[in-house]
Amino acid sequence: MRVFVPKESRTGERRVAITPDVLGRLKQNGLDVTIESGAGTSAGFGDELYRQAGATISPTASFADGDVVASVLPLTSEQFGQLRPGAITISFLPIHSATESIAASVAAKATSFSLEAIPRISRAQSMDALTSQALCAGYRCALVGAELSPRFFPLLMTAAGTVTPAQVLVLGAGVAGLQAIATARRLGGVVSAYDVRSSSADEVRSMGATFIELELEALEGAGGYAREMDESRAQRQRDLLAPHIAAADVVITTAAVPGRAAPRLITKEMMVGMKEGSVIVDLASESGGNVEGSVAGETLKTAAGVTVWGGKDVPSQLPYHASQLFSRNVVNLLLLMTKEGVVTPDFEDEIVDASAVTHNGVQRLPKPISEGGPQ
Ligand code: NAI
Repeated sequence: MRVFVPKESRTGERRVAITPDVLGRLKQNGLDVTIESGAGTSAGFGDELYRQAGATISPTASFADGDVVASVLPLTSEQFGQLRPGAITISFLPIHSATESIAASVAAKATSFSLEAIPRISRAQSMDALTSQALCAGYRCALVGAELSPRFFPLLMTAAGTVTPAQVLVLGAGVAGLQAIATARRLGGVVSAYDVRSSSADEVRSMGATFIELELEALEGAGGYAREMDESRAQRQRDLLAPHIAAADVVITTAAVPGRAAPRLITKEMMVGMKEGSVIVDLASESGGNVEGSVAGETLKTAAGVTVWGGKDVPSQLPYHASQLFSRNVVNLLLLMTKEGVVTPDFEDEIVDASAVTHNGVQRLPKPISEGGPQ
């Protein structure tokens, strides 16, 4: 069978779904690969690297070139329309919002997997692209904070006197937040963090940061994720966090609740209390923003001299390793379904069952409540 890898069509998307290092594993398992010419260039993987690793380079994006199509972002309706009968697609495919792509996949009778829907169980960790990409985003956020701050991060003892370390506050300590903490610590910042999940306190401390305890109930939801907070709890959280935010030189916000707009953690009013030269890095800018007024893809400055950076396509800003990790996630899912060179999804497998959005002209996800779907 053949895997086709197109160039990503959305402007600003620099990642590629398959990188040259995994081609050997695919070949060993009987899978050949065709790469659209230039698909990996913006991630640092030129055509020649793919050719040397055994791929065929196609000058055109012909979606009929593969039994499997691997991409980072969902295929468009038009691209689904070009697939071979019975083709399999693997990509990010948000089951609640990619409605046009999902309808086109049903119409094309494709079997389409959503990497967002991979269950968070130990066996699926190597296929969890949400985690691998959040890791890249968290790292990037800490670097952006350091870059935009007019201060050093580390404590420095110099002949001209001592430089005090930057105070970094991370709000939301999931995968991205923990990586932001680790990176800010490596740069020498003094880091504290807060998250609504009670289990995050130990994780934050294990990274060498201080966990901020607030007199608030924890908000644990299903699958290890957070629950949405109501407005009165949100206000209380903002009130309690305000002094910590005012004391910080760099604040990195990464808070998210699956399927909901990002929780509002910092208001414009709270920014007035921050020091001139402080920096806020809002990773949640594209999903509504943790920070009032942040704009995805823009760096703004408030009248009080606080810089607000709104994240846009953040994993794409580290395209080499984001692609490499994504590619390993895709290949691990693909090989789970590959026997003797043939990719055959087995819906008895929990991972396959949970992540196949469409199959044979039927939309399988989201499951109705009667079949255990979300309430
Ligand atoms: P996410 O991207 O959905 O959210 C980021 C963080 O924001 C979460 O830690 C969440 O608790 C926090 N948050 C939500 N509302 C907040 C608020 N109002 N204030 C402060 N923080 C708030 O989450 P992510 O990073 O995908 O991870 C969520 C959980 O899944 C974690 O417990 C993580 O350890 C777990 N996980 C499990 C995996 C596995 O078992 N295979 C793989 C990856 C993560």
